Amino acid sequence: MKILFVCLGNICRSPLAEAIARDYAQKKDYQVEVDSCGTGSWHIGEAPCPDSQKIAKIRGLDISNYKARQVCKDDFKKFDILIGLDSKNITSLKELGYKDALLMGDFGFEGEDVPDPYFFDGFEGFDKVFDMIETCVKNLLDEKVRK
Ligand code: 4NP
Repeated sequence: MKILFVCLGNICRSPLAEAIARDYAQKKDYQVEVDSCGTGSWHIGEAPCPDSQKIAKIRGLDISNYKARQVCKDDFKKFDILIGLDSKNITSLKELGYKDALLMGDFGFEGEDVPDPYFFDGFEGFDKVFDMIETCVKNLLDEKVRK
């Protein structure tokens, strides 16, 4: 099973989803490959934003060596499940020709979008974003990967 987490820039939310999923899968011995990307191209090659790196570190995860990349059509063949962090990501994937993306918020937050923290005023709010992603990722893996 291969799962791809998709946000806009691949520097704030989806790197957290990727790291949380990898860590949880390892702890649970789930057989799953995970990756993340963005629909936008602005941040290709960049490390995650400082506040995502900070919250990850506080929660015991190191994402400092991650590098942002943009989604590509090969991803639609390579991955079994694509997860959009918000509904705009799902729309963008549809515009690129991928109709089956699932919404992260449907795995524990009644379809809520994971808020885009790029324009948050400082670090406040990253805790909540992390908690929301963590809850959804765990539910997702328990539902889709657990044998
Ligand atoms: P992300 O956050 O989608 O969670 O990585 C964003 C990062 C960059 C931008 C928007 C959202 N941007 O407009 O550059």
